Amino acid sequence: MCGIVGYIGVRPAYEILVKGLHRLEYRGYDSAGVALLTDDAKLNVYKTRGKVDDLERFCQSKDIAGSIGIAHTRWATHGEPNDINAHPHFSRSGKIALVHNGTIENYGVLKEALEMNGCTFQSETDTEVLVQLIEYVKETNGCTLVEAVREALKEVVGAYAIAVIDTDEPDTVIGARKSSPLVIGVGEGETFLASDATPIIEYTNKVVYLNDDEIAIIRRGEPLQIITADNRPGQIDIKTLRMSVSQLEKGGYPHFMLKEINEQPSTIHDCIRGRIASRGPEVTLSGVIENKDKFLNAHRIIIVACGTSWHAGLIGKRLIQEIARIPVTVEYASEFRYSNPILDEHDIVIAISQSGETADTLAAIQMARRCGAFVYGVCNVVGSSIARATDSGTYIHVGPEIGVASTKAFTGQVTVLTMLAVAIGSLKGTIDPATQTAVTDALRNLPALIRQTLKLNDKIEKLSSTYTYVHNFLYLGRGYNFPSALEGALKLKEISYIHAEGYPAAEMKHGPIALIDRELPTVVIAPNDEMHEKIISNIQQVKARGGSVIAIVTKGDTSIAEIADHILEIPEVPEVISPIIVSIPLQLLAYHVAIKKGCNVDMPRNLAKSVTVE
Ligand code: F6R
Repeated sequence: MCGIVGYIGVRPAYEILVKGLHRLEYRGYDSAGVALLTDDAKLNVYKTRGKVDDLERFCQSKDIAGSIGIAHTRWATHGEPNDINAHPHFSRSGKIALVHNGTIENYGVLKEALEMNGCTFQSETDTEVLVQLIEYVKETNGCTLVEAVREALKEVVGAYAIAVIDTDEPDTVIGARKSSPLVIGVGEGETFLASDATPIIEYTNKVVYLNDDEIAIIRRGEPLQIITADNRPGQIDIKTLRMSVSQLEKGGYPHFMLKEINEQPSTIHDCIRGRIASRGPEVTLSGVIENKDKFLNAHRIIIVACGTSWHAGLIGKRLIQEIARIPVTVEYASEFRYSNPILDEHDIVIAISQSGETADTLAAIQMARRCGAFVYGVCNVVGSSIARATDSGTYIHVGPEIGVASTKAFTGQVTVLTMLAVAIGSLKGTIDPATQTAVTDALRNLPALIRQTLKLNDKIEKLSSTYTYVHNFLYLGRGYNFPSALEGALKLKEISYIHAEGYPAAEMKHGPIALIDRELPTVVIAPNDEMHEKIISNIQQVKARGGSVIAIVTKGDTSIAEIADHILEIPEVPEVISPIIVSIPLQLLAYHVAIKKGCNVDMPRNLAKSVTVE
C-alpha cells in the first residue's frame, strides 16, 4: 500500500512527481504530498488529505520550483488520514524529508528513545519516527545522509521502501527497501524512483529493481550507486521494460475497471500466446518444462493467495486435481504463514498474485522455501517481489491492472492455472488426448467467447437499476463455479458496498436459506453442466420463498428462463473454462450496480490494490 515517487534530473520535478502519483493512486488514496528542493536548496513540502487531485489544487498557488523531489500517495496504517499524517514527513530541523511505503513495527520503542533525546513529533505515523531517527543519527555521528540512512535502518524492524532528500545535500536522493517494492528508472541525466514502473515508463524503459536491504544513492550527474545494508557495493542489473504508456490510460473508457473488463479478449490472447499453438493440443509452459522432475514427483500442491487470487486458486485446485491428479489444498496466505505447516521437498507451493507484492503471500513463499518446498509463482507484474522470490513460474501477461477490483487478472490467473493443469497432466499422462484437445481448443476460443459474452453489457446495465437500493445479495454456484460465486460476491461488495455472500448452491439449505425474502436477490450461476438439474431445484427453493433470481445460464436454456426473474445467457462452453466466461457478467453486474449507486469503482473506499502490509 502507499505509492512513492522520486525524481532528480534537469526537468521540473513537480509535474513528473504528480503524474507519477496519479499512476500509483491505485496503491492508496487517503492523502497525497510532495517535497521539492529548489535550486537554492530550500525545501518546500506540500501535503493534504484526499486524492492527488486535491494535492494539485492545494499546490496551485505554491512555489513548485525544483528539479529534485519526492512524493507520496497514502493508504493509512498508523494515524487517521489527515493533513498532518500525510507524507512527506520531515525532520525536526526541517532539513530532511522522507516518504515511506510499509510499516515500521518497532516505531513505538524508537519514538520513546528519540523523545528521551529531545525529539518532538507532530504526526501519529510510524514514518515520522524514521525521518527523525535519520536526522538524529546524522547529527550525532556527523555523517553523510546515506550513512545516516544506513545506520538508522539497522534499528528498524518492519517493511519499508523509502525515498529521502536533505537540504544539506541538495543533489542527492537516497532510496532503500526491505519487503516493499522500489524500482529505479535510469534515464539520460535523470533518475526516477517509484513503487512500481508505471510512473517511470514515460521517460525511460531502463529500470533497476532494488533488492531487500539495498540502498540506492542517486546523485545528480553521477551514475547510480547501490550499496548493501552492510556497506558492500550492490549489483546494478538494468532491465528493459516492455510496457507502453497507453496501457496505463483509460483509452476512452470512463473507468479503468470497464476498460479492463473489455480488454479481456486481448489479455487472454496475450496470456495464451506462445503457450498454446494455433493448432494442436500441446501446452508449452517453460516453468513446467524446466522443472519437469519437481512436477512429476510432487506429492502435493498447496496454493497460497489472497482475495480474488485465492478464488482463482480454488478453481485451480479443481483443475489440477481433475486433470493432473495431484492432491491440492488452497490456503489464505495470511493464515498459512502462521499455521506451522508441514512441508517438504516433495511439495509444490503455487503462489498466485496479480501485483506480486502482497505481503502475506510473500511471507508464505519465504516460509515455504525455508521448509524446502518448490515454489511456483503465477504473477502479473513482471519483476515484482513475488515473481523474484519464487523458484519458477508463469506470468499471466494481462498488462497493468489499475482498477482496484481485479477483473482481467482473475481471468488471466484462471487461464494460466488451466494451462498449468494440462501441462502437468500431459507430463504425467493423466489427461487423455481427447480431453487435452477439447481443453486446448476451448482455451484458443476464449478470446472470441469472451467477446461474445461482453455483449451482455447493455442488458446488465439496464438490469442494474433494479438493484441499486438493495442491501444484501446472495451468489450461488456449484463445482467449478462455486469459486465464481465467491468472486462475484467479492466484486459486488468491494465496489458497491452492498453486502454479498457467495455459497455453494447446495449449502443454501443448511443456513443461508433463512435469509431469503423479497429484499434479497440471488445470483445463480447455472450453466449447462452436470449440476444443472440440481441447481434448478435451488432456484425453485429461492423462488418459493419470494426471492428474486438473476440466473447466468447457457444460451437457449429454457428451463431456467421460465423460473428466474432475469437470465443472462452465456455461450455454450466446456465446464473447465466456464468460470472464465461467467466472470464476465459477474464483473459487469458489479460495475453497473456500483456506477448506478454513484460509487468510485476504480478507487473504492478503504481499499488499495497492492497490499504490502499484513
Ligand atoms: C479484489 C482484489 C483483491 C486482491 C488481493 C490479492 O478485487 O483485487 O482481493 O485479489 O488483494 O492481491 P494480489 O493478487 O495482488 O496478491
